[in-house]
Amino acid sequence: MEISLKDQVAVITGASSGIGAGVAKSLASAGATVVVNYPFEGSMEQANSVLKEIIDAGGKGIIYQCDVSKEDQVVKMFQDIVSELGTVDILINNAGIQKDAKFTEMTIDQWNAVMGVNLTGQFLCAREAIKEFLRRGIDPSRSVACGKIIHISSVHEIIPWAGHANYASSKGAIRMLMQTLAQEYGADKIRVNSICPGAIQTPINTNAWNTDNALNSLLTLIPYNRIGQPEDIGNLAAFLASDLSDYITGSSIFIDGGMTTFESFSTGG
Ligand code: BGC
Repeated sequence: MEISLKDQVAVITGASSGIGAGVAKSLASAGATVVVNYPFEGSMEQANSVLKEIIDAGGKGIIYQCDVSKEDQVVKMFQDIVSELGTVDILINNAGIQKDAKFTEMTIDQWNAVMGVNLTGQFLCAREAIKEFLRRGIDPSRSVACGKIIHISSVHEIIPWAGHANYASSKGAIRMLMQTLAQEYGADKIRVNSICPGAIQTPINTNAWNTDNALNSLLTLIPYNRIGQPEDIGNLAAFLASDLSDYITGSSIFIDGGMTTFESFSTGG
Protein backbone atom coordinates (compact mmCIF):
# COMPACT_ATOMS: atom_id res chain seq x y z
CA MET A 1 0.00 0.00 0.00
CA GLU A 2 1.39 3.35 -0.97
CA ILE A 3 0.22 6.88 -0.27
CA SER A 4 0.03 8.71 -3.58
CA LEU A 5 -0.90 12.33 -4.13
CA LYS A 6 0.45 12.24 -7.67
CA ASP A 7 -0.54 15.20 -9.85
CA GLN A 8 -2.56 16.83 -7.07
CA VAL A 9 -1.98 20.45 -6.08
CA ALA A 10 -1.65 21.10 -2.34
CA VAL A 11 -1.63 24.56 -0.76
CA ILE A 12 0.07 24.63 2.64
CA THR A 13 -0.32 27.89 4.52
CA GLY A 14 2.48 29.00 6.80
CA ALA A 15 4.86 26.53 5.18
CA SER A 16 8.10 28.49 5.52
CA SER A 17 8.79 26.93 8.93
CA GLY A 18 7.65 24.51 11.60
CA ILE A 19 4.77 22.10 11.05
CA GLY A 20 3.85 23.70 7.70
CA ALA A 21 7.33 23.11 6.30
CA GLY A 22 7.24 19.48 7.48
CA VAL A 23 3.83 18.90 5.92
CA ALA A 24 4.91 20.49 2.62
CA LYS A 25 7.89 18.11 2.43
CA SER A 26 5.77 15.05 3.21
CA LEU A 27 3.06 15.90 0.66
CA ALA A 28 5.69 16.63 -1.98
CA SER A 29 7.37 13.30 -1.32
CA ALA A 30 3.98 11.63 -1.85
CA GLY A 31 3.85 13.26 -5.31
CA ALA A 32 1.83 16.45 -4.77
CA THR A 33 2.83 19.75 -6.34
CA VAL A 34 3.04 21.98 -3.29
CA VAL A 35 2.43 25.68 -2.79
CA VAL A 36 4.71 26.78 0.04
CA ASN A 37 2.83 29.80 1.38
CA TYR A 38 4.72 32.29 3.53
CA PRO A 39 3.36 35.38 5.27
CA PHE A 40 5.78 38.28 4.74
CA GLU A 41 8.73 39.40 2.65
CA GLY A 42 10.92 38.56 5.66
CA SER A 43 10.10 34.85 5.48
CA MET A 44 10.79 34.47 1.74
CA GLU A 45 14.29 33.11 2.25
CA GLN A 46 13.00 30.39 4.57
CA ALA A 47 10.23 29.51 2.10
CA ASN A 48 12.82 29.26 -0.66
CA SER A 49 14.95 26.91 1.37
CA VAL A 50 11.93 24.66 2.09
CA LEU A 51 11.21 24.60 -1.64
CA LYS A 52 14.86 23.90 -2.48
CA GLU A 53 14.83 20.87 -0.17
CA ILE A 54 11.66 19.66 -1.88
CA ILE A 55 13.10 20.09 -5.36
CA ASP A 56 16.45 18.53 -4.41
CA ALA A 57 14.50 15.48 -3.21
CA GLY A 58 12.77 15.23 -6.62
CA GLY A 59 9.53 17.03 -5.68
CA LYS A 60 7.64 19.90 -7.27
CA GLY A 61 6.34 23.22 -5.98
CA ILE A 62 6.29 26.98 -5.88
CA ILE A 63 6.44 29.58 -3.11
CA TYR A 64 3.71 32.20 -2.64
CA GLN A 65 3.53 35.16 -0.26
CA CYS A 66 0.15 35.89 1.32
CA ASP A 67 -1.03 37.04 4.73
CA VAL A 68 -3.94 34.63 5.26
CA SER A 69 -5.73 37.05 7.58
CA LYS A 70 -6.32 39.44 4.64
CA GLU A 71 -9.29 38.64 2.40
CA ASP A 72 -7.98 40.35 -0.76
CA GLN A 73 -4.64 38.54 -0.50
CA VAL A 74 -6.26 35.12 0.01
CA VAL A 75 -8.66 35.59 -2.92
CA LYS A 76 -5.75 36.61 -5.15
CA MET A 77 -3.57 33.72 -3.96
CA PHE A 78 -6.18 31.14 -5.00
CA GLN A 79 -6.79 32.89 -8.34
CA ASP A 80 -3.05 32.98 -9.07
CA ILE A 81 -2.55 29.34 -8.08
CA VAL A 82 -5.43 28.18 -10.28
CA SER A 83 -4.07 30.12 -13.25
CA GLU A 84 -0.54 28.82 -12.70
CA LEU A 85 -1.17 25.21 -11.61
CA GLY A 86 -4.67 24.55 -12.98
CA THR A 87 -6.57 23.82 -9.77
CA VAL A 88 -6.25 23.06 -6.05
CA ASP A 89 -6.95 19.56 -4.68
CA ILE A 90 -5.74 19.83 -1.08
CA LEU A 91 -5.68 22.69 1.41
CA ILE A 92 -3.59 22.40 4.55
CA ASN A 93 -4.91 25.23 6.72
CA ASN A 94 -1.80 25.46 8.86
CA ALA A 95 -0.73 29.09 9.42
CA GLY A 96 -0.95 29.87 13.12
CA ILE A 97 0.57 32.19 15.68
CA GLN A 98 0.69 32.68 19.45
CA LYS A 99 0.58 36.06 21.25
CA ASP A 100 0.56 34.91 24.85
CA ALA A 101 -0.53 37.07 27.79
CA LYS A 102 -2.19 36.79 31.15
CA PHE A 103 -5.88 37.27 30.39
CA THR A 104 -6.36 40.56 32.25
CA GLU A 105 -3.34 41.98 30.43
CA MET A 106 -4.23 40.68 26.98
CA THR A 107 -4.55 43.54 24.50
CA ILE A 108 -7.13 43.73 21.76
CA ASP A 109 -4.24 43.64 19.28
CA GLN A 110 -2.98 40.33 20.72
CA TRP A 111 -6.50 38.92 20.59
CA ASN A 112 -7.20 40.14 17.04
CA ALA A 113 -3.82 39.08 15.66
CA VAL A 114 -4.29 35.48 16.82
CA MET A 115 -7.92 35.29 15.71
CA GLY A 116 -7.00 36.92 12.40
CA VAL A 117 -4.42 34.32 11.41
CA ASN A 118 -5.61 31.21 13.26
CA LEU A 119 -9.36 31.47 12.63
CA THR A 120 -10.19 34.10 9.99
CA GLY A 121 -7.25 32.82 7.94
CA GLN A 122 -8.62 29.28 8.05
CA PHE A 123 -12.11 30.55 7.12
CA LEU A 124 -10.86 32.55 4.13
CA CYS A 125 -8.61 29.82 2.75
CA ALA A 126 -11.27 27.11 3.22
CA ARG A 127 -13.87 29.27 1.46
CA GLU A 128 -11.68 29.91 -1.56
CA ALA A 129 -10.54 26.27 -1.70
CA ILE A 130 -14.10 24.91 -1.57
CA LYS A 131 -15.19 27.30 -4.36
CA GLU A 132 -12.38 25.91 -6.52
CA PHE A 133 -13.19 22.26 -5.61
CA LEU A 134 -16.82 22.80 -6.65
CA ARG A 135 -15.83 24.59 -9.87
CA ARG A 136 -13.55 21.71 -10.89
CA GLY A 137 -15.74 18.83 -9.69
CA ILE A 138 -14.52 15.30 -9.10
CA ASP A 139 -11.73 14.16 -11.37
CA PRO A 140 -11.20 10.44 -10.70
CA SER A 141 -7.78 10.56 -12.32
CA ARG A 142 -6.70 12.76 -9.37
CA SER A 143 -8.78 11.56 -6.39
CA VAL A 144 -12.13 9.95 -5.62
CA ALA A 145 -12.97 13.03 -3.52
CA CYS A 146 -13.77 16.46 -4.88
CA GLY A 147 -11.25 18.04 -2.53
CA LYS A 148 -9.65 17.70 0.88
CA ILE A 149 -9.19 20.27 3.63
CA ILE A 150 -7.01 19.60 6.65
CA HIS A 151 -7.15 22.16 9.42
CA ILE A 152 -4.12 22.21 11.67
CA SER A 153 -5.68 22.68 15.09
CA SER A 154 -4.02 21.75 18.41
CA VAL A 155 -4.46 19.70 21.56
CA HIS A 156 -5.69 23.09 22.84
CA GLU A 157 -8.83 22.47 20.83
CA ILE A 158 -9.84 20.59 24.01
CA ILE A 159 -7.18 21.38 26.65
CA PRO A 160 -7.74 24.78 28.29
CA TRP A 161 -4.51 26.79 28.41
CA ALA A 162 -3.95 29.50 31.03
CA GLY A 163 -2.11 32.49 29.62
CA HIS A 164 -3.17 31.62 26.08
CA ALA A 165 -6.91 32.45 26.00
CA ASN A 166 -6.74 33.84 22.46
CA TYR A 167 -4.89 30.81 21.08
CA ALA A 168 -7.05 28.21 22.85
CA SER A 169 -10.24 30.01 21.78
CA SER A 170 -9.09 30.07 18.16
CA LYS A 171 -8.37 26.33 18.23
CA GLY A 172 -11.68 25.47 19.91
CA ALA A 173 -13.44 27.40 17.17
CA ILE A 174 -11.56 25.54 14.44
CA ARG A 175 -13.25 22.33 15.57
CA MET A 176 -16.70 23.78 14.84
CA LEU A 177 -15.55 25.30 11.57
CA MET A 178 -14.15 21.93 10.48
CA GLN A 179 -17.22 19.89 11.52
CA THR A 180 -19.64 22.38 9.98
CA LEU A 181 -17.80 22.32 6.67
CA ALA A 182 -17.64 18.52 6.72
CA GLN A 183 -21.41 18.46 7.25
CA GLU A 184 -22.20 21.20 4.71
CA TYR A 185 -20.04 19.79 1.89
CA GLY A 186 -20.09 16.03 2.54
CA ALA A 187 -22.61 15.42 -0.24
CA ASP A 188 -20.24 17.21 -2.62
CA LYS A 189 -17.55 14.67 -1.68
CA ILE A 190 -15.35 17.25 -0.01
CA ARG A 191 -13.56 15.84 3.03
CA VAL A 192 -12.71 18.12 5.93
CA ASN A 193 -10.70 17.05 8.98
CA SER A 194 -8.45 18.47 11.67
CA ILE A 195 -5.05 17.40 12.89
CA CYS A 196 -4.52 18.31 16.54
CA PRO A 197 -0.80 18.29 17.32
CA GLY A 198 0.61 18.24 20.83
CA ALA A 199 4.10 19.56 21.51
CA ILE A 200 6.01 19.51 18.24
CA GLN A 201 9.59 20.80 18.13
CA THR A 202 9.20 24.00 16.11
CA PRO A 203 9.93 27.74 16.51
CA ILE A 204 6.45 28.48 17.96
CA ASN A 205 7.29 26.72 21.25
CA THR A 206 11.09 27.08 21.46
CA ASN A 207 10.95 27.96 25.15
CA ALA A 208 9.22 24.65 25.89
CA TRP A 209 12.20 22.56 24.68
CA ASN A 210 15.40 24.60 24.35
CA THR A 211 16.77 23.93 27.85
CA ASP A 212 17.02 20.61 29.71
CA ASN A 213 14.73 21.93 32.43
CA ALA A 214 12.07 23.05 29.99
CA LEU A 215 12.20 19.80 28.04
CA ASN A 216 12.04 17.64 31.18
CA SER A 217 9.05 19.54 32.42
CA LEU A 218 7.36 19.25 29.00
CA LEU A 219 7.99 15.49 28.98
CA THR A 220 6.01 15.09 32.21
CA LEU A 221 2.97 15.96 30.08
CA ILE A 222 3.71 13.38 27.38
CA PRO A 223 3.25 9.67 28.24
CA TYR A 224 5.17 8.60 25.12
CA ASN A 225 8.11 10.59 26.51
CA ARG A 226 9.38 12.39 23.46
CA ILE A 227 8.67 15.68 21.76
CA GLY A 228 6.98 15.43 18.35
CA GLN A 229 8.63 16.29 15.05
CA PRO A 230 7.14 18.03 12.00
CA GLU A 231 7.44 14.73 10.03
CA ASP A 232 5.05 13.09 12.52
CA ILE A 233 2.42 15.59 11.42
CA GLY A 234 3.51 15.36 7.77
CA ASN A 235 2.94 11.59 7.72
CA LEU A 236 -0.60 11.97 9.05
CA ALA A 237 -1.37 14.86 6.69
CA ALA A 238 -0.28 12.79 3.68
CA PHE A 239 -2.58 9.94 4.76
CA LEU A 240 -5.52 12.28 5.42
CA ALA A 241 -5.05 13.98 2.06
CA SER A 242 -4.96 10.65 0.22
CA ASP A 243 -7.74 8.33 -0.92
CA LEU A 244 -6.61 5.78 1.70
CA SER A 245 -8.58 7.87 4.22
CA ASP A 246 -11.62 8.36 1.98
CA TYR A 247 -14.16 7.49 4.70
CA ILE A 248 -12.68 9.97 7.21
CA THR A 249 -14.43 13.32 7.36
CA GLY A 250 -15.49 15.59 10.21
CA SER A 251 -12.80 14.18 12.53
CA SER A 252 -10.24 15.76 14.84
CA ILE A 253 -7.24 13.47 15.00
CA PHE A 254 -4.97 13.98 17.99
CA ILE A 255 -1.28 13.35 17.44
CA ASP A 256 0.37 14.18 20.71
CA GLY A 257 2.29 11.25 22.25
CA GLY A 258 -0.65 10.80 24.60
CA MET A 259 -0.83 14.39 25.92
CA THR A 260 -4.63 14.28 25.78
CA THR A 261 -4.67 11.30 28.15
CA PHE A 262 -3.99 13.96 30.85
CA GLU A 263 -0.80 12.38 32.24
CA SER A 264 -0.99 14.51 35.40
CA PHE A 265 -3.90 12.27 36.50
CA SER A 266 -1.78 9.10 36.32
CA THR A 267 -1.13 9.21 40.06
CA GLY A 268 -3.99 11.33 41.32
CA GLY A 269 -7.61 12.20 40.94
C1 BGC B 1 1.27 25.13 20.81
C2 BGC B 1 2.62 24.84 21.41
C3 BGC B 1 2.48 23.90 22.59
C4 BGC B 1 1.63 22.68 22.25
C5 BGC B 1 1.35 21.80 23.46
C6 BGC B 1 0.58 23.82 20.49
O1 BGC B 1 -0.64 24.04 19.86
O2 BGC B 1 1.43 25.94 19.64
O3 BGC B 1 3.23 26.06 21.83
O4 BGC B 1 3.77 23.45 22.99
O5 BGC B 1 0.40 23.11 21.69
O6 BGC B 1 0.95 22.53 24.57
